[in-house]
Amino acid sequence: MESENCEKYLAYSKIIVIVLSIIIAGLYFLSFSSFLLLFRPEFDTTLSPEHKAFVYEKMIEAFRSTDKKACDNQYCKRPETQHVDCGRVLRGDKEYLQTLTGSSRIPLIADPYLNMTCSAIISRIKPEHLNFRELKLNGTAFARIVYKDYEFIEKQVQASYHPQNAFCFVVDKKSPVEFYEKMKKLQECLGNVIVLPATESYDSNGHNNNLGHYRCMEALLSRPDWSYLILLQNYDVITKSVYEMDRIFELLGGANDVATSTETPGRRKKHLKWDPKSLKLFRDESGIEESILNSDVKISSGFVQGSLSRAAIEWMVNTVDLTVFINQWNQTKYGGDEQFINSLQINSNFGMPGHFTDECIHQKLPVVEITRMTRWAVHGPSSCATKTVRNEICIFGIEDFRAVAKMPTLMFNKMIPSFDYSIVECTAELLYNRTFLGQVDTVLNEVFYENLVSAQYHKHHKEPGYVLNCTSDVSPWKYEDYL
Ligand SMILES: *[C@@H]1O[C@H](CO)[C@@H](O)[C@H](O)[C@H]1NC(C)=O
Ligand SMILES: *[C@@H]1O[C@H](CO)[C@@H](O)[C@H](O)[C@H]1NC(C)=O
Ligand SMILES: *[C@@H]1O[C@H](CO)[C@@H](O)[C@H](O)[C@H]1NC(C)=O
Ligand SMILES: *[C@@H]1O[C@H](CO)[C@@H](O)[C@H](O)[C@H]1NC(C)=O
Ligand SMILES: *[C@@H]1O[C@H](CO)[C@@H](O)[C@H](O)[C@H]1NC(C)=O
Repeated sequence: MESENCEKYLAYSKIIVIVLSIIIAGLYFLSFSSFLLLFRPEFDTTLSPEHKAFVYEKMIEAFRSTDKKACDNQYCKRPETQHVDCGRVLRGDKEYLQTLTGSSRIPLIADPYLNMTCSAIISRIKPEHLNFRELKLNGTAFARIVYKDYEFIEKQVQASYHPQNAFCFVVDKKSPVEFYEKMKKLQECLGNVIVLPATESYDSNGHNNNLGHYRCMEALLSRPDWSYLILLQNYDVITKSVYEMDRIFELLGGANDVATSTETPGRRKKHLKWDPKSLKLFRDESGIEESILNSDVKISSGFVQGSLSRAAIEWMVNTVDLTVFINQWNQTKYGGDEQFINSLQINSNFGMPGHFTDECIHQKLPVVEITRMTRWAVHGPSSCATKTVRNEICIFGIEDFRAVAKMPTLMFNKMIPSFDYSIVECTAELLYNRTFLGQVDTVLNEVFYENLVSAQYHKHHKEPGYVLNCTSDVSPWKYEDYL
């Protein structure tokens, strides 16, 4: 009996050893990034035949009832979303909300016959009857890395369009040629759109992203006037109107808004040198103390997205030379793009205009940042109103519309048009109503922006005896409160 058990036991151990060996060998042969991919599969937005039929039915209804004149005095929705009553969702009608989710969720169906003549593009983005007021800060600039979904991108230009604003795009070299051609067409038709040649590829591990944004910074400086630049990625959706952004940046008063958190371990390539001298950071080292030139740059991790003053961008392009810095971060396997503006922002002795400091990192006090709203799916899909996650981040849907309208952040990351287009369309309608119909659905909380720790620091840090208080009077917002 006993020896039989023992034999069984040996047989089991052999099997276990073999299975383990196969797993370990498998992991060894997979590269680290494809290993990650096993756990982060491509986001699948394939529609079931029933779901597709539902959307097409809605489109047919819309085509049959289209009244062209209706678009003259109000926001005009595309056929997929014409039945969506954004106002009702905004008023918090939960029962109605249920008719726009699940198998009734509306994705964008790309239009293969999209009219790409200049007059058609212009009439979609800035129809003749719309009037714009002058901006106080002479305009906002946007730098966006794009690779997909032209109609969604065009919608984002429309939603933030103002004759004084400027839009720069870098297009991923891997993108289909039709996408690039459409983007070029956008540049051809609108004087304030710049589309740079597609010279490199960008990936979700962060490669070349800083370089892409940097090339837009250079290109945008050739345009006079704009006062702040927002760095964006493909699926970011701006949630403030052009006038609100203008006012918010006026309240920041020259301070940059950049996420600055403790350095994420393992991001920095250890064998590389990270002092300003080795990085050849300052174009002119003569005015810079040796101690600064020879000590390591303080590193902070955060988001790629951020808002930078024009003076900061001029400094990044003309005062320092970021070539080596950008190149060294690009050697990081994952997330090298998330230390770029973030680190420049906390090295106060470098003197970037609108900078912050690393004091709050030392005090372990998080500082509120307003450019990007992200909902981390810390408890999996249940953390998200849509119950949908990609790369550990909630994908926003129509369930989030009230949060979009009420939260103080400038932008939501991310909305994916092939997953839910109602939220994209309703956000555009909301901004249209604020911009052209003068509707005030949410009063801008000016005190909140003025009292941001970074804005207060910027305003007062040169005063003698100034002590930074990393805690703001205004309590940080909670996403759950707005759903
Ligand atoms: C936008 O304004 C129109 C016209 O007043 C209204 O019907 C619609 O509900 C508004 N949409 C939002 C999102 O506020
Ligand atoms: C494209 O739009 C323009 C301007 O609105 C119009 O004149 C032209 O006929 C349209 N082309 C097609 C193929 O619909
Ligand atoms: C806006 O432009 C005008 C005219 O060029 C200039 O006088 C003014 O200082 C600018 N305002 C800001 C905030 O840059
Ligand atoms: C950035 O890194 C990627 C991935 O290693 C590489 O393919 C690319 O050439 C690098 N970019 C530059 C400008 O060196
Ligand atoms: C910082 O500001 C907060 C909010 O006003 C206040 O409660 C706190 O006492 C201040 N801390 C210091 C050290 O002054």
